[in-house]
Amino acid sequence: MIRVGIVGMGNIGKRHAEIYSKDPLSELVAVCDIDREKADAAASRFGVKAYYVVEEMLASEEIDLVGVCTSGVEGGSHHYEPTLQAITAGKMVLGEKPISNDIGEAREMVAAARERGVHYGINLNHRTHAMAATARQWIKEGKLGDLLFCNMALWIRNPRDDPPYYHIRALHPHSIDVMRYFCGGPRRVQAFFMKAPGRAGWSTISVNFDFANGAVGHLTGSYDMPFIHPIERCEVGGTKGRFVLENVFEDLVYFPHDSPERIHLHNSIFSQYTSFQDTFDMRIHRFLEQVTQGDTPEEIEASGADALAVQEIIEAAIASHEKGGVPIELPDQ
Ligand SMILES: NC(=O)c1ccc[n+]([C@@H]2O[C@H](COP(=O)([O-])OP(=O)(O)OC[C@H]3O[C@@H](n4cnc5c(N)ncnc54)[C@H](O)[C@@H]3O)[C@@H](O)[C@H]2O)c1
Repeated sequence: MIRVGIVGMGNIGKRHAEIYSKDPLSELVAVCDIDREKADAAASRFGVKAYYVVEEMLASEEIDLVGVCTSGVEGGSHHYEPTLQAITAGKMVLGEKPISNDIGEAREMVAAARERGVHYGINLNHRTHAMAATARQWIKEGKLGDLLFCNMALWIRNPRDDPPYYHIRALHPHSIDVMRYFCGGPRRVQAFFMKAPGRAGWSTISVNFDFANGAVGHLTGSYDMPFIHPIERCEVGGTKGRFVLENVFEDLVYFPHDSPERIHLHNSIFSQYTSFQDTFDMRIHRFLEQVTQGDTPEEIEASGADALAVQEIIEAAIASHEKGGVPIELPDQ
């Protein structure tokens, strides 16, 4: 049984707390927020002790895993301190995305986890589900042949408009992580951003990828689309076939090049998982499963290192945009 303490009791921290309370592999033992009212309210809701200072929680409770659900600038500037406190205390960490909005701090966080040999995962919940695993297996089995392209779209409505880069830094850890999960890292990216009418920040983006494996790709991202239609689509094409993964984990279709027959996986209404919120359950359960079965820190899926690699791509896209769309090279990922 993994004993969990959560830092940051906003809506997302409460969602994590609910999941750890119900998951058979974990037990929620404490919650922590610098805002006493939030900590106390969550503590009474989940029947655990409230803390207001991370170090006190770590010193007073037997905790194996710290859930870091803080936020801050671009959804990520407050993760650094509690993550390093937890890692320094030798605790496993499952943090929220973005790993950090500051690439220097993100590098330090991943280096600290590596030095301490600590399991470090990030809630990159758009790929931690069975349908993405199936699609990736198809790639590994050669059903797509050599990869040629990956086209990704992630678009939602978010009126929040913290200029200039809230949209790409807060949302696109997800889309770029999905692209990287299927196609590996890019060696170059090139980006063009625009502002929807009335926006101060770059709310719609277009990013080209030149993957290290030779495939090419594209991401369209937006905070200007409605929530009533699907939010995500990922299409990967190769020399032998192509798949389309629709709306995170709703539908997956494989189109072989040599046959009109398709394989279609649909997420049934009888499935355990029917809403986007369930991606949190799946991601958290997978982390608990991996550490329970003794996987090493290097084997953790959607790890801190993966989240850092994604953030490096985001920073390269921003650099390309700022230089008028020149391609930016990335080190091997
Ligand atoms: N994975 C997803 O799909 C997804 C979706 C939405 C948001 N998020 C992420 O979840 C995170 C949390 O989002 P939110 O909306 O709940 O944020 P929030 O601002 O509502 O809550 C964060 C809480 O952390 C507390 N806090 C900050 N620093 C602290 C510290 N050092 N010690 C203790 N408490 C501290 C704050 O007081 C606040 O209550 C963000 O990083 C966001 O980007 C992820």
